[in-house]
This record gives sequence, structure tokens and C-alpha cells, in this order.
Amino acid sequence: MSELTVIVLAAGGGTRMKSKTPKMLHQIAGRSLVGHVLAAVSEAGASRVVAVVGHQRELVEPHIAEILPEAVIAVQTEQLGTAHAVRVAVEAGAVSGGTVLVTYGDTPLLRGESLRALVADHEAAGRAATILSGIVPEPFGYGRILRDDAGVSGIVEEKDATDEQRAITEINSGIIAFDGAFLADVLPRIGNDNAKKEFYLTDAIALAVADGLSVDAFVLDDVTEAEGANDRAQLAALGKILNDRIVTRWMKDGVTVMDPATTWIDADVELAPDVTILPGTQLIGATRIDEDAVVGPDCTLKDTEVGHGARVMRTQAELAVVGPGANVGPFSYLRPGTVLGEEGKIGGFVEVKNSRIDAGAKVPHLSYVGDATIGEGTNIGAGTIFANYDGVNKHKTRIGRHVKSGSGVTFVAPVVVGDGAATGGEALIRDDVPPGALAVSAGQQRNIEGWTLARRAGTAQAAAAEEALEAGVPILGEPSATGE
Ligand code: UD1
Ligand code: CA
Repeated sequence: MSELTVIVLAAGGGTRMKSKTPKMLHQIAGRSLVGHVLAAVSEAGASRVVAVVGHQRELVEPHIAEILPEAVIAVQTEQLGTAHAVRVAVEAGAVSGGTVLVTYGDTPLLRGESLRALVADHEAAGRAATILSGIVPEPFGYGRILRDDAGVSGIVEEKDATDEQRAITEINSGIIAFDGAFLADVLPRIGNDNAKKEFYLTDAIALAVADGLSVDAFVLDDVTEAEGANDRAQLAALGKILNDRIVTRWMKDGVTVMDPATTWIDADVELAPDVTILPGTQLIGATRIDEDAVVGPDCTLKDTEVGHGARVMRTQAELAVVGPGANVGPFSYLRPGTVLGEEGKIGGFVEVKNSRIDAGAKVPHLSYVGDATIGEGTNIGAGTIFANYDGVNKHKTRIGRHVKSGSGVTFVAPVVVGDGAATGGEALIRDDVPPGALAVSAGQQRNIEGWTLARRAGTAQAAAAEEALEAGVPILGEPSATGE
């Protein structure tokens, strides 16, 4: 393969998005449209990438530079057409030889392997230009491929086409491979004498033919791959197609996905074989799931790691780590900095933030754990609150190993509970607890008799109390045995 320069045209406005965000920066599968294109271009083996920016370049340019720092940025101040944009790129990138591949910045489904196949075909035949084309049932809006007895003779744009030409269903995807020397020679010869008064890159084809050079079209089986997202409806449609592609790839790699239609997996997610994904699950960003883990139903995991054999159900998690064999859910909220150790548990209606829960430790029910460490084998009782915030500052709580805390406890940070300690139910723990100690703070229960009748007279509560008292229903003594 000769040296490959890829030009990415990304100067257009994208007005149909009706957005303050530039079109190229809208996302599907966790990457911007241009991010997907740059990934495909890198896969295709580009040795140099030149990106043409214009509209909202203050946003587009840094975004491209972040994804691909080595990309050359060319600025097209006025959008005078695709040939003009390519000329700007060729000048900025000092492109002269090798193969030059022109692509657009808004085609997220484009595969690196398709680009590679186009370039291979182009170079093997030694042509001046090779168009990536395809047959579509609705060619409206696209440039049509003109063919005569000698082969491809040119491309005509929708607005400049005759009725007969409009009936042609072979379209220009917009992606064209050029011989670099031919491209540099032809660009200054392209005019703008057409319906849109734009410099059309597509005019290069007829000019090559007139020069007696060889051109052809490389017909892609499914040219929808080169489709751009112009509005939000198309964005969602392409997002769905891309998701189907990603989900299918993971299934082929040994992941069980019970319901592909309600499973959303970002492009950068990594899954091991024998992972099971249950319905209604979204895996976002850099989420990684290890072998034999079961995730779902109804989980949203962002930038989260799930260990080997772990079980996560009905959970919202971000920047969290779930250890091997651990259990999370249902209805758990894992905020950034949550690290759950091997075989640990974060149960129903539990919120955890910036806390480490070590191996085998459990927070099973209805609790908030913030800015804490919980040692190995410790059990936190139902309804426990780690009060980490004094209204001004956040403080840490450290709970040791194999601690048993009662239900309804409040740990008021900063506080330390030693290894093997215990706390009574409803305890308010403000002071450190030494290892092995039992901390209790809830007072003796007092019953203030007649309180409801005195303070809540006229309410249903008072009426109920009065009826029971009159009927002589016992309020003291043993509760009746239920046999359970
Ligand atoms: C272009 C092709 C058409 C093809 C279609 C496929 C030309 C003349 N026509 O038409 O044959 O079927 O794509 O989608 O090439 N851009 C710039 N600077 C400009 C003009 C465009 O960067 O001055 C960028 C746009 O951001 C966009 C791409 O080039 O990403 C295509 O431009 P657009 O004007 O939308 O071309 P189409 O009319 O769609
Ligand atoms: Ca309580």
C-alpha cells in the first residue's frame, strides 16, 4: 500500500440538527459522529489525516485534536463546496503523492474495513480516482454515477441532473479515493458553474475521463454504511443501527444478550465471554464486564467495572467497581468512587458514594454510605446512614473488619469503628468505637400514655386509640404469637 492521506470534511453547518452543538459532535454509542469516522480512518491505516473545519470550529477543532492529536487541521472559512474544502486540505497538509481518500465527518457507520477495501481496489487498478458507490432505492439528493460503454464517465448532482439521470439508482457515497498527484492537478481546474454555484469535488471524475485517465466506482453492498446524520431522527436511526451492530458483535464473541432491542452498548465497552446481559440494560463509556457476570435487568452502568461472576440488577452506577462474585441491587445507586470487594453486597435501596466496601462486607438494605471504608466481612444493618457532611465539610468514616452494626444506625463522620466491634440498633455513633466494643446510644423507651387523645384530639388517630381503649384491647404485655 502506498502512503495514505485521509481528508475528513467537517466544515459544514448541520443546520437541520437545530442545535447549539455542531453536528459532528453529536453522539451515538458514546462517541461523536466525527469520533466514529476518525476511528474508521485509523483502522483503514491512514498515515496522515487532514480534517477540514469551518462552522463552529472553536468546538470542532479541539474535539478532533483530543481524539487524534496528530491530525492536521485545515480551516475553511467559507463553505464554497467539497472541491474547495479538499483544496484547503491539500494546501494545509502539503499533500502531493500517494493515495488521498476523501471522507466526511458525519458518517458514523462507516467501517474501516470498507475504506481499506476501497483503497486496495483503487491502488491495485492504479486509477486516477475510485468512487465508493452503492445502489439505493431512494437516490433523491445524492450525486448519481454516470456510466457509458467505456465505464464510469462522471457524477451528476441532484440539482443539475436531467429526469433521466435522476432515475439512476447508483449513488456517490461522497467518499472518493484519488491518486494524490492527479488530485493536486485537477482541483484548480474545477469551476462552480452549476445549480448551487459550488465547487464540486465530483467534477473531478469527468475531468479525469477527459484527460484519458482511468476511473471507476467501487460498489459497496450496503452503502447505508456511508450515510450521514443530518437531523435528530436520522441520528437516532443511525444510533440504533450502530447499536445492533455492536450488540451482534458481542453475541458472536460469546456474550448472552437476552433482548438485543433493549440493550444499549457503547462502542468503547468491553465484555468477556459468558457475560449475560438481561433486558433494559445500558452499558456506557468505558464500562468493562468480566466473565460469567450477569448484568440486568434494567441497569445503567457508566465507566463501571464488574468483576468475574458478579451479579448486578436494577442498578444505576457511575465510575464504580464491583468485585468478583459481588452482588448489587435491586434498586442500588453506585456513585463515583464506589469500590465493592470480592463477594461483597450492596443491596436494595442503597446509595454509595466514594467508599470502599471490602471483600465479603455487606450493606444489604436501605442505607446511605458516603466517604467511608468498610472492612472485610463487616455487616451494616438495615437503614444505616453515614452522615458525612456537617453542612460545610465532608468527613470520612472508617469501619473495621468483621464489625456487626445494628439497624438504623447513624455514623457521624469523622468517626472510626474498630475491628470486631458492634453497634446497637438506632445508635448515633459520634465517638470512635474501640475494637471489640459494643456501642449503644439509643435511650430507654418511654411510653407517654394518653398522648394521642391529649395532643391529637379529633383525628382518626385519636378515634382509633379511643376505640381500642374503650374495648379494652391490651396495649401492654406480650404481642400475640403468630406461630411464624
Ligand atoms: C455530496 C456529493 C454528492 C454525494 C453526497 C453524499 C459533492 C458536490 N456532492 O453532496 O455527490 O452523493 O455528498 O452524501 O461533493 N463540506 C465542507 N465544506 C464545503 C462543503 C461541504 O466541509 O464547502 C463538507 C460537509 O460538512 C459535509 C460534506 O462536505 O460533511 C458534504 O457536503 P454537502 O454539501 O452536504 O454535500 P452533498 O450536497 O450532500
Ligand atoms: Ca433511624
